[in-house]
Amino acid sequence: LMMLYFVVDTTDEDFKKEIPSMPGQYQLSLKQLEKTVGEAVDAGLRSLMLFGIPKHKDAIASEAYAPNGIVQRAIRMLKAKWPELQVVTDVCLCEYTSHGHCGILKEGDTCGEVVNDPTLELLAKTALSHVEAGADMVAPSDMMDGRILAIRETLDEAGYVNTPIMSYAVKYASAFYGPFRAAAGSAPSFGDRKGYQMDPHNRKEALKECALDEAEGADILMVKPALSYLDVIRECSDAFDLPMCAYSVSGEYAMIKAAAINGWIDEERVVLEALLGIRRAGAKLILTYYAEEALKKGWVR
Ligand code: PBG
Repeated sequence: LMMLYFVVDTTDEDFKKEIPSMPGQYQLSLKQLEKTVGEAVDAGLRSLMLFGIPKHKDAIASEAYAPNGIVQRAIRMLKAKWPELQVVTDVCLCEYTSHGHCGILKEGDTCGEVVNDPTLELLAKTALSHVEAGADMVAPSDMMDGRILAIRETLDEAGYVNTPIMSYAVKYASAFYGPFRAAAGSAPSFGDRKGYQMDPHNRKEALKECALDEAEGADILMVKPALSYLDVIRECSDAFDLPMCAYSVSGEYAMIKAAAINGWIDEERVVLEALLGIRRAGAKLILTYYAEEALKKGWVR
């Protein structure tokens, strides 16, 4: 199980703000991240993924690849404190662009049509900056075509030949990302992501996306979201030898948590049954906002 954390670039060391649509999940300052992760590590957490919320956003997502950006600083802090902890980073530009899209737009664009190839360069630069800061693995979530190869080449050229890439290979344009976008402040200010994320109707496209990413050099393939796409996880894990990861996204967490808070379900049993279903579908790694709580409460080891 991998846990997800949101780290905010702020001078307020005590900053810890609960995400209203994700009770129990927080936006954290660097200091608060250290404290939170420390407790999670004590409970047995071994792997996490980081999202950054920058101070400043612009059209070219400058802070995504700034050597001293918030994610880069968080990686250095975490790896210095817990060298054994696997620190993975989400590589995307949407939290860093002023318009909230996952890539750069043509000048004057009003519909959110991302320009694919110029975006690759920035994604590769972002991934490299994470690895230079000490990230154990990078996970591109932008869904641009060709980004795995672009990142692989950039990492190899810089000598990071052994750093793996976990590809968000199969990422559907899903309504289940709603709470995340509020958490990361990354909702597009106009247009939508249907130009680069996948149509939920499409099953075969999932196999095609996996094949492309495998050929480009991905080390782990991911399907996202998880619970509404168990058939896709199964099919991709049967068809490919690479380890499969599934991302149980913010909306999945929010639904279970809301029902649990209301006393409508047995939270522990529902969480474990959902995780088990994802595992049974073929996922070897699961990204879940429940990872920390499940460890702390002894639901999993
Ligand atoms: C960034 C990104 C998103 C998620 C992970 N990385 C949002 C999106 O594509 O809109 C969603 C995660 C979640 O809902 O938990 N591109």
